[in-house]
Amino acid sequence: MKKRELKTELVETGDGSHTLKVEELKEHYHSHKGAIQESLYVFIEKGLREFNHADHVSILEVGFGTGLNALLTSIDRKRSAVRYWSLETFPLKWEIVGQLNYPKLIKDNSVEEVFKEIHVSAWDTEVSLMDGFVFKKINSSLQEFDSDHKFDLIYYDAFAPHAQPELWEPAIWEKLFDMMNNRGVLVTYCAKGQVRRDMQAAGFTVERLEGPPGKREMIRARKDGYEEV
Ligand SMILES: C[S@@+](CC[C@H](N)C(=O)[O-])C[C@H]1O[C@@H](n2cnc3c(N)ncnc32)[C@H](O)[C@@H]1O
Repeated sequence: MKKRELKTELVETGDGSHTLKVEELKEHYHSHKGAIQESLYVFIEKGLREFNHADHVSILEVGFGTGLNALLTSIDRKRSAVRYWSLETFPLKWEIVGQLNYPKLIKDNSVEEVFKEIHVSAWDTEVSLMDGFVFKKINSSLQEFDSDHKFDLIYYDAFAPHAQPELWEPAIWEKLFDMMNNRGVLVTYCAKGQVRRDMQAAGFTVERLEGPPGKREMIRARKDGYEEV
């Protein structure tokens, strides 16, 4: 896929962490109330922690962007081995993401190296970033992506419906439902009624959860599994 770039501007959010603003879409990569705060709440607390007791979790992220969710997952995964694949149509340059203050604010061993490795690792190549954390950035849109591999957890972190309505269409949820394992979980910061109804129509069981600061609600959707007898 051809690499096109979005023009971005670095801005500080309410919790002191940076995000990027995209003028052409009138969008930010994260909540202006707090980028780290939002990622930790929506994707880690309400998503990853559902798998705290799993030996292995296979994650698909839609919208790699700044790599914040990948970084937080590598830190918070407890004893689970993680296979993390992330889709991105508009890769950001290291000159831009290297200015983000996530490694400074997230106090953890080797966070700076891991953040850099996440970004400088080759596209479309699976790499073992650390023991138990296998990672692949995929330079593809979700619409063009196809996989035989099934996922346990989806971080749905696309730009909002008003900016990219094509990423919130019913066909998207049908596609993701088919790509998930039974008992899979999908989390997103969005809580629009139409999105919830479309997810239900695709087969998901949908929960409305309290949102991160600044947002009333978010969505957690499950692909309910059943045991064959
Ligand atoms: C809200 S941002 C979030 C990014 C990221 N999760 C983060 O924490 O920085 C949405 C991301 O989705 C990417 N994107 C846009 N269209 C896409 C598509 N069709 N398929 C996959 N990713 C897409 C954007 O380039 C952007 O990086």
